[in-house]
Amino acid sequence: MRQPQVEQSPAELPEQVTIWEVGPRDGLQNEKSVVDLETKAEFIRRLLAAGLPIVEATSFVHPRWVPQLADAKELLEKLRDEGGLDHHDLPVLVPNERGLDRALELGMKHIAIFGSATETFATKNLNRSLDEQFAMFEPTVSRAREAGMDVRAYVSMCFGDPWEGDVPIDQVVSVGKRLFDLGASQLSLGDTIGVGTAGHVKRLLGAFGEAGLPIENLAVHFHDTYGQALANAYAALEAGVTTFDASAGGLGGCPYAESATGNLATEDLVWMLHGLGIETGVDLEALVGTSVWMSGKLGRPSPSRVVTALA
Ligand code: HMG
Ligand code: MG
Repeated sequence: MRQPQVEQSPAELPEQVTIWEVGPRDGLQNEKSVVDLETKAEFIRRLLAAGLPIVEATSFVHPRWVPQLADAKELLEKLRDEGGLDHHDLPVLVPNERGLDRALELGMKHIAIFGSATETFATKNLNRSLDEQFAMFEPTVSRAREAGMDVRAYVSMCFGDPWEGDVPIDQVVSVGKRLFDLGASQLSLGDTIGVGTAGHVKRLLGAFGEAGLPIENLAVHFHDTYGQALANAYAALEAGVTTFDASAGGLGGCPYAESATGNLATEDLVWMLHGLGIETGVDLEALVGTSVWMSGKLGRPSPSRVVTALA
């Protein structure tokens, strides 16, 4: 399979980056139909086999809110019982203590809470006001930390909100810092509806730096609604970010965010990174094969440009 010609950028860039694969979670939560358990398990196995170092598996949210992922327990039990991978290592989304209890029952070691930078989305996605979300997360994170879990914190609507429009940078930094200070090891800055642009990315990352949050603790999570995700990823790379969220085949979106479409496709990100001579550990051919297989299961072609070009 064709690979990009490697030409390093004259800019100072990292030698290696970590891709945080969110396809099984952010991707499948947004599918109209519920993907069957065996296909979900196979998707995760194939992604790990393609060299993705972190695969976010599912969510312990309310099954009525996200019926697509209502089989979280069964999925993780299946992966555990079939062996060959350590299901404990797969991060899962947890919004509250009920979700945490469900994750603890299965011995999970990595959870991700998900906060909103805006009032409206906090209400729509979490049924909480902006302030109330912290009261929900606080005991969740402290109990998770006591249990020895690693906690990631997402911040949604960092670059714009479908109901509120522009989102002030200082508001995002304030929410992000509050989430991080609860005891997270990493903050993932989400462009939930894909409206951000490259200068905005640099400004926001810079503002977190000024607020005392080191770039090593920041990840970026781009959706490609306006075709900006890859440009935004490059801007973040130049700013020193080394963890990038992406979704195989460009699946994804949030059912509670109007106009959210697919995530940055993992294949498009890998093509750019490998072309820059940056290591990811990912086998592009195996990954494209996985997305082609998944698009067969979903009955529509992948929106990823790289998958389309190589398939
Ligand atoms: P609520 O209705 O306010 O819940 O929902 P509650 O605390 O009032 O509890 C009501 C009932 O739900 C209780 O049961 C609880 O036990 C049960 P009852 O006593 O009435 O029988 N319950 C649960 N059951 C199972 N698992 C749970 C759970 N929690 C409560 N975890 C809640 C609040 C947060 C649960 C709800 O709003 C919810 O599940 N929201 C999730 C929405 C979601 O998953 N959105 C997509 C993920 S975010 C995203 O995609 C963005 C991201 O990708 C980054 C980006 O792009 O920006 C991460
Ligand atoms: Mg997302």
